[in-house]
Amino acid sequence: MIVVTGATGNIGRPLVAALAQAGEEVVAVSRSAQPAGLPGGVRVAQADLGNFASIAPVLEGADAFFILLAGELNGPGEAATNLLDIAKRAGVKRVVLVSSQLSGTRSDTPSHNRLREFEAAVRASGLEYTILRPGGFASNAYAWSESVRTNRTVFSPFADVALPVIDPADIADVAAVVLREDDHAGQTYVLTGPEAIGPRRQAEMIAEVLGEDVTFVELSREDAHAAMSQFMPEDVVSGTLDVLGSPLPVEQQVSPDVHTVLGRPARPFSDWVARNLPAFK
Ligand SMILES: NC(=O)c1ccc[n+]([C@@H]2O[C@H](COP(=O)([O-])OP(=O)(O)OC[C@H]3O[C@@H](n4cnc5c(N)ncnc54)[C@H](OP(=O)(O)O)[C@@H]3O)[C@@H](O)[C@H]2O)c1
Repeated sequence: MIVVTGATGNIGRPLVAALAQAGEEVVAVSRSAQPAGLPGGVRVAQADLGNFASIAPVLEGADAFFILLAGELNGPGEAATNLLDIAKRAGVKRVVLVSSQLSGTRSDTPSHNRLREFEAAVRASGLEYTILRPGGFASNAYAWSESVRTNRTVFSPFADVALPVIDPADIADVAAVVLREDDHAGQTYVLTGPEAIGPRRQAEMIAEVLGEDVTFVELSREDAHAAMSQFMPEDVVSGTLDVLGSPLPVEQQVSPDVHTVLGRPARPFSDWVARNLPAFK
């Protein structure tokens, strides 16, 4: 049995589908009792990773545990080692953590303290573990969906600063492999897309898939900061803008790890747009 947290999100949905398709017994964790749109036959457990005690009964009898810290779960909370202790007591043998590339490339950014704490707890747990460190997600482009729908316009800072954004479906495919197969214990994989592209090029790709013109408007860092501060904590806004505006050379490089694990290249950004076109129409 495999327990998946974050099961209704960008990575979790395709992960649950892939595991169910492979014939695994999957338990999808959600804060809702009846989350919509999960594949039939998948058991849902109502629990909250913000309250470790609620996860304990869900883990009883599980072989593998997929840990994803969404939203404010990236902020301070219970000691991460407590969750790993709960997993061990429940009999879990293998744990897979979604961290971030920045946990490795920017070892002192406050916005990633919680992910670094979880990485350390996973490594020290004595369980079989794999850590996934993705770069920026293709799905961050959902932030442009409303302005594309209403005005066919993308507003973004740093128009031509290129990063190899990754399709969350590729993260899910990698997660499904490392949760099921024995050869990935102790590995930390950096997951990126197949090419570095900037926001202006992403807007062009949205326009190509839509078959309509999309205008690109470059925001100043200050304007982007003000817009993002409405829905993100201050340290996360600053850390995100630092990466988007001044990436380190290693953050602009394409990692081989998706290809190594899956035996195929990562999906291009245009694939993500095509699968999510209704959001932009
Ligand atoms: N976006 C990026 O560019 C990027 C880059 C590198 C790493 N990451 C990491 O990737 C993770 C996010 O993955 P994702 O995009 O798949 O997640 P997501 O879609 O934002 O959220 C996944 C699910 O988590 C559940 N959840 C539980 N507690 C939550 C809370 N307090 N706030 C919000 N959601 C909560 C929600 O499900 P229910 O409502 O059903 O409970 C939600 O559907 C984070 O750890 C982030 O640090 C992101």
